[in-house]
Amino acid sequence: MAILCVNIDHVATLRQARGGTEPSVVESALAAEKAGVRGITVHLREDRRHIQDEDVYQLRRLLRTKLNLEMAATPEIVGIALKIGPDQVTLVPEKRKELTTEGGLEVIREKKYLTGVIKRFHEKGISVSLFIDPELPQVKASRAVGADIIELHTGEYVNAAGSQQKRELARLKAASALALKLELGLNAGHGLNYENVRPVAKIKGMNELNIGHSIIARAIFVGLGKAVKEMIKLIG
Ligand code: PXP
Repeated sequence: MAILCVNIDHVATLRQARGGTEPSVVESALAAEKAGVRGITVHLREDRRHIQDEDVYQLRRLLRTKLNLEMAATPEIVGIALKIGPDQVTLVPEKRKELTTEGGLEVIREKKYLTGVIKRFHEKGISVSLFIDPELPQVKASRAVGADIIELHTGEYVNAAGSQQKRELARLKAASALALKLELGLNAGHGLNYENVRPVAKIKGMNELNIGHSIIARAIFVGLGKAVKEMIKLIG
């Protein structure tokens, strides 16, 4: 079954609401590690609305598990990522006005650019995951540009219900099967919560789930350690 990487962006969202130092992003990461997560994910957005550059530098120094940096493949952020050296980067599309990442990367359209960016990360020993919609041509293109991993966007699945949700799960399964055939690592995320996560965690070959909002929201009521442990129990 899958392992859990927790996305702690929304700890930073709360901190930024008052512009101070609380709650501490680093402390939340260390608490999540203590509770058993296998990696910490943060998204350094171009507008720095939550995670700040210094958070990523500190996490790089202090984490014992994996640091997965979610990012747009813009020259500025690529430069910062190469300097910090996370274990893994997850390339996502980014729009300034979106509340959260809205769709997958257009790997087919950006083939040439992404190939160059991925090569630069590989030269530094950083593995590269591409956040894509569960579409077979995007999976194939991810292989072609040299990605190590794909992260399937589960947004359509989590927003659907009934038979439509079954169809979305089937799309995720088909994209997953192709990823395995092409020897790509397989991750998934976006909108996963305690109710909808199990069918995704059970997909054959699913390696890692990136989950943020639902865990941080639950942590308000039960504490971060318990919220993390409950999710690990569901997916493991
Ligand atoms: N994976 C990616 C690529 C994302 O952009 C996000 C949102 O930051 C997540 C996972 C986590 O999504 P959520 O906060 O809805 O669990």
